[in-house]
Amino acid sequence: MTEQTASWRVNFRQTASYQIRKAPDIFHPNNRALSSPGRKFGDRRFVVVDQTVFNTHSDEIRTYFTSNGMDAKIVTIPGGEENKSVDNYLTILYELDNFPIHRRDEPIIAIGGGVVTDLVGFAASSYRRGIPHINVPTTLMGYIDASIGIKTGVNFNFQKNRLGAFSPPLQVFLDRAFLKTLPRRHILNGVCEMIKLGLIKDRGLFNLLEHSGEACIHSKFQDETGEKILDRSIYGMLDEIQPNLFEENLARKVDFGHTFSYGLETIPDGDLLHGEAVLLDIAFSISIAHKRGLLTGAEIERILHLIDQLGLPLDHRGIDARRLWKSLEERTYHRNGLQRVPLPAGIGECIFVNDIAKDEIQAAVNQLEEWTVVKHAEIR
Ligand SMILES: NC(=O)c1ccc[n+]([C@@H]2O[C@H](COP(=O)([O-])OP(=O)(O)OC[C@H]3O[C@@H](n4cnc5c(N)ncnc54)[C@H](O)[C@@H]3O)[C@@H](O)[C@H]2O)c1
Repeated sequence: MTEQTASWRVNFRQTASYQIRKAPDIFHPNNRALSSPGRKFGDRRFVVVDQTVFNTHSDEIRTYFTSNGMDAKIVTIPGGEENKSVDNYLTILYELDNFPIHRRDEPIIAIGGGVVTDLVGFAASSYRRGIPHINVPTTLMGYIDASIGIKTGVNFNFQKNRLGAFSPPLQVFLDRAFLKTLPRRHILNGVCEMIKLGLIKDRGLFNLLEHSGEACIHSKFQDETGEKILDRSIYGMLDEIQPNLFEENLARKVDFGHTFSYGLETIPDGDLLHGEAVLLDIAFSISIAHKRGLLTGAEIERILHLIDQLGLPLDHRGIDARRLWKSLEERTYHRNGLQRVPLPAGIGECIFVNDIAKDEIQAAVNQLEEWTVVKHAEIR
């Protein structure tokens, strides 16, 4: 800090460091993953668990904390986008406030999908101006994406993630056995994010999905190749976000599939999952990329074939170009005035564009209609 007569400048660079590690059999009483962080100074743990996960694992969870001599307050929150609400955020905070914890040494624990980890992360970021939190993802979306970054938030004023914070977790513990009970639709939901990564930065991941995606979906990623694909997806995501953790650079490859999807997820009474909306966005985006000469016809064929082969839903009913345009406008505000839309340039590479026009979006909507009509005609 330099001394001046009329003003002072404060310089401080924010850093973050956290570990993501595998912790199989996480509720085995001898597994120290959840009990050791902060152990030396505190034995109270505030634990928020997805309701569905708790229905299956309640005994194990309770036994885990008791046998480790810990006083655990367990709060359950239902999953699903409609529950990523300010009400549930406040419920967590009231419960937490009634169960006081040491501010630094008793990290709160989130066990659930992206909804629970986003909610708990945001509660942790705002309670007493920030307390440590631990993530244990239980969905594929959480395992490869939502729980491993530092973004947290809740939906507000009919907008997704309108309130939130960058809040690095203390640790993330991965146990892919949770995926065994995940319904197929939610497995496919996470696969859409894998396709995103494959298309914009990792041709090898795309190839792996072509060769083994179907079998991995069937095994719910419990086999060796499933683990390889999970690891590669996590690596790809971290490789992308680590140098830009606090999003100083607003041109982010991982925003591929997250431009038009924003408007699709907020259709009133719509029930698209995050990954399903991302996949539709991918379809519109590759159509635009193709028309701009960034993807060849053969590459488009390959991508559509993969989507079809993995049984991913491309249901675009009720989607019109106007909604997509509005979503692009909203994202342009979010990206500080420029579209910064990532488009694939060949499989595994991407560029950013700032000049997508309304008629290109209309053409992409028409194109998707054509692609899906052709697909249905083939099935018949
Ligand atoms: N913070 C981030 O960087 C980030 C990244 C991607 C997505 N997200 C957010 O994540 C959310 C979506 O996450 P999600 O897809 O995990 O949804 P989710 O948390 O709603 O979970 C999906 C469903 O699966 C159930 N469930 C959870 N674990 C289960 C298990 N092991 N077995 C059976 N059922 C289980 C839940 O109860 C819910 O019904 C969205 O709100 C999205 O915005 C955040």
